[in-house]
Amino acid sequence: MSYTALYRKFRPTEFSDVKGQDHIVTTLKNQVCADRIGHAYLFCGTRGTGKTTVAKIFAKAVNCEHPSDGSPCGACASCRAIASGASMNVIEIDAASNNGVDNIREIREEVAYSPAEGKYKVYIIDEVHMLTPGAYNALLKTLEEPPSYVIFILATTEAHRIPVTIVSRCQRYDFRRITTDTIAARLRELTEQEQVEAEERALAYVAKMGDGSMRDALSLLDQCIAFYLGQKLTYDHVLEVLGAVDTEVFGDFFRRICAQDLPGTIRELEEIVLKGRELSQFVTDFIWYLRDLLLLKSDQGMEEMLDVSGDRLLRMKEDAGLTDPDTLMRYIRVFSELSGQLRYATQKRVLVEIALIKLCRPEMERSYDSLLQRIALLEKRMEEGAAAAAPAWKPPAVEAGREADAGEPRKISVKALPEDIRRFIENFQELRKKAGSWQQMVLKGAQCRELPEHAGVQIILCKNHAIDENELAERLEQLAEQEMNVKMKVQVSTPDSDPRAADPVIDLSGFIDMEIEIEE
Ligand SMILES: Nc1ncnc2c1ncn2[C@@H]1O[C@H](COP(=O)(O)OP(=O)(O)OP(=O)(O)O)[C@@H](O)[C@H]1O
Ligand SMILES: [Mg+2]
Ligand SMILES: [Zn+2]
Repeated sequence: MSYTALYRKFRPTEFSDVKGQDHIVTTLKNQVCADRIGHAYLFCGTRGTGKTTVAKIFAKAVNCEHPSDGSPCGACASCRAIASGASMNVIEIDAASNNGVDNIREIREEVAYSPAEGKYKVYIIDEVHMLTPGAYNALLKTLEEPPSYVIFILATTEAHRIPVTIVSRCQRYDFRRITTDTIAARLRELTEQEQVEAEERALAYVAKMGDGSMRDALSLLDQCIAFYLGQKLTYDHVLEVLGAVDTEVFGDFFRRICAQDLPGTIRELEEIVLKGRELSQFVTDFIWYLRDLLLLKSDQGMEEMLDVSGDRLLRMKEDAGLTDPDTLMRYIRVFSELSGQLRYATQKRVLVEIALIKLCRPEMERSYDSLLQRIALLEKRMEEGAAAAAPAWKPPAVEAGREADAGEPRKISVKALPEDIRRFIENFQELRKKAGSWQQMVLKGAQCRELPEHAGVQIILCKNHAIDENELAERLEQLAEQEMNVKMKVQVSTPDSDPRAADPVIDLSGFIDMEIEIEE
């Protein structure tokens, strides 16, 4: 037994089955009821939204012997003849393959003969934008003054390519993209008829992937059902068949990018690749995720625009709080550029990785928005740094400063610190330069703090490096002795091994090249 694709099997045969085009269906039904039928119609709109379907139902309705409420009865001789394709009254022409003057001339000659039975001869010309200029001219003549028993229905996805002379002679109907909800409801209806068990989420995802086109959604559903024939259709199955990634992954991915966790994002990408997911699809879906976050951030009222569940909405709001709109726009820009490049790329994975590096390391880009992000990051670091240092900043220095000069804004004197520690910190940059090339690099941007009870200094590297911390500490101790004649305990920590939380230390990094002013 041959198999008929879902979208053909379930082509609506009456107006009530046409979903999401109520504005058109109602008008056409009213015309049939009132017997005020036009002689030329132009149906335009996205692929798979019901243009051909509605044209056929309309052709049936105008010829039906006893239409009810403007819809064809489906039972009379005319309805049955049209449904079986045997009727001479409905002529379908595919303009993609019959686009010449001669094809249209044939129609003109035929039009002269009135229908043998029934009331109207209906010509449905699909893909009408494919006609040649000569054919358009030939059609124009017929469209202008067709015999009263002829109806033309021109269908196209590209209305802008139809000459205005043609458009102005037709009643124009714009078929809308169908909403995800409407498509999902239709899918539910059809899976029930087909006796296929399917999860709500699975159908919702397929509907969303249809992107407004009912036919696309039905084809995807067909594909999923075929892959898991006889089994319940789950969300995971759908993701697998369509090569898509679970939405949870996007949140995870986004949080890692915000934390600038490059190794983490690359690892996650690897997993996605290993699972055999389609990278272009992943990038597109991620752009949509970012877009949703941006909407959430822009306005309270935007929540309704997103079709996500309450739980997920909460998480997405948290995610949206991790960054600012400028940064989100930068992310969207980088990924949109990427999705353009991916189309023709052979090494998709590498391109995605480069984009991730760009996102995690704004300093690698020179564009305006990455500069903005770098400034925002610096500001954030300064804020955090200031907040962390302030409470820890207590007695000796402040008191000493107060006593020194009471009236004016106070300047904290670096001298208030134990002499050796002060000198070490003042000369830290010099020591760094002498420490050796890799040491110098590793120490770049490091912070100095006093160890509790003036025991020495702690150096906190700005990043995690795979180094022997003790060895580096010893090297610094050596240098201090050699260059400054100071014996000093030095402890080196990385952000991971930093024991700050456990034992509070005083942040002295502010003393380097900077005076601190305390306002009353
Ligand atoms: N509005 C709709 N309601 C229900 N089913 C629809 C609708 N639109 C499309 N479909 C389904 O999609 C199939 C294709 O629809 P149709 O041929 O009418 O699309 P079209 O708009 O003519 O597309 P194209 O521009 O690609 O020719 C139909 O057989 C039907 O199963
Ligand atoms: Mg069509
Ligand atoms: Zn009928």
